[in-house]
Amino acid sequence: MNKPVMTSLIRHLSLRQLQVFEAIARHASFTRAAEELHLTQPTVSAQIKNLTDAIGLPLFEQIGKKIHITDTGRTLYKSCREVFDALARFEMETADLKGLKHGHLRLAVVTTAKYFVPRVLGPFCQRYPGVDVALKVTNRERVLERLVENEDDLYIFGQPPAGIDVEAIPFLRNPLVAIAAPDHPLASQRRVPLARLSQEPFLVRESGSGTRLATERLFDERRLSMQIKMELGSNEAIKQGVIGGLGVAVLSSHTLATELTSGQLCILNVEGLPIERHWYMVRPKGKQLSVVARTFLDYMLTDGKSIAETPVRVTPARPRRREPPRAQGALPTARTRKRRTA
Ligand code: PGA
Repeated sequence: MNKPVMTSLIRHLSLRQLQVFEAIARHASFTRAAEELHLTQPTVSAQIKNLTDAIGLPLFEQIGKKIHITDTGRTLYKSCREVFDALARFEMETADLKGLKHGHLRLAVVTTAKYFVPRVLGPFCQRYPGVDVALKVTNRERVLERLVENEDDLYIFGQPPAGIDVEAIPFLRNPLVAIAAPDHPLASQRRVPLARLSQEPFLVRESGSGTRLATERLFDERRLSMQIKMELGSNEAIKQGVIGGLGVAVLSSHTLATELTSGQLCILNVEGLPIERHWYMVRPKGKQLSVVARTFLDYMLTDGKSIAETPVRVTPARPRRREPPRAQGALPTARTRKRRTA
């Protein structure tokens, strides 16, 4: 027979205290933790005081206005994540046994993936209305931090993280192409050498972006450097800059559906481009997926992939003619009579 689970701590601390602690540690802020958990700040402080008393060592220290987690706090944070992950798995597995397929799905994706992930999530959420999805969209560097902290169930990257033990499944093409305004002198040329492109003013994403990393790598490999004219924090801002004639850029073709169809942008024919990449579904190696996360992963590799591959329709829908509202019992006017008999 196994020994009963009993540590002296269990008598003194509660799951609620651990939940409050975990939120503070994650946000490095009492205020943001209180907001997330819909608690008042005095309640949050009281919970942490009781938890600190139960443990007998400080969990945070305040230096100036900032709070810092202590070594004890960091160890407790790791244990908290393990406890909460195990509870979440248990909750979802029992839900699945009941045939409900409901629970939570936490996804973190790099900025550019927002051009297809929300579209793909629509049918998934319709199929599993009991699943709550939290989608975090941020740049590659931040998504990497979240992966290291094991904050989400699954991640989408444009390139599997190096130096971290992960399982990464490629599921969708992600070509990076060079773009310019249609009246740009290179727009009409074929097989433009990369060295020629490198003389143009470039608009680039912020450092930490996967798009920027891949573009810089291509130029480095050819021992060329880009003439960076401006650094912009979003794909949308870059597209607007290129449309406005500020320069050229290299972006994922997933970001371009609307502007290519409307003729505001064109893809340049450049040697060495597109940079052929893929989107990857990623999770830390050995991470046990919840039933919901496993279901989502299967969905992404099948239906999700085909939805993302379907080009977005950018022609505006024709507005339907509406009958003007008619008072009850009112006789049809000459115009409505004509339309009906037509
Ligand atoms: P980014 O990543 O949105 O951070 O540029 C996209 C990618 O890696 O393709």
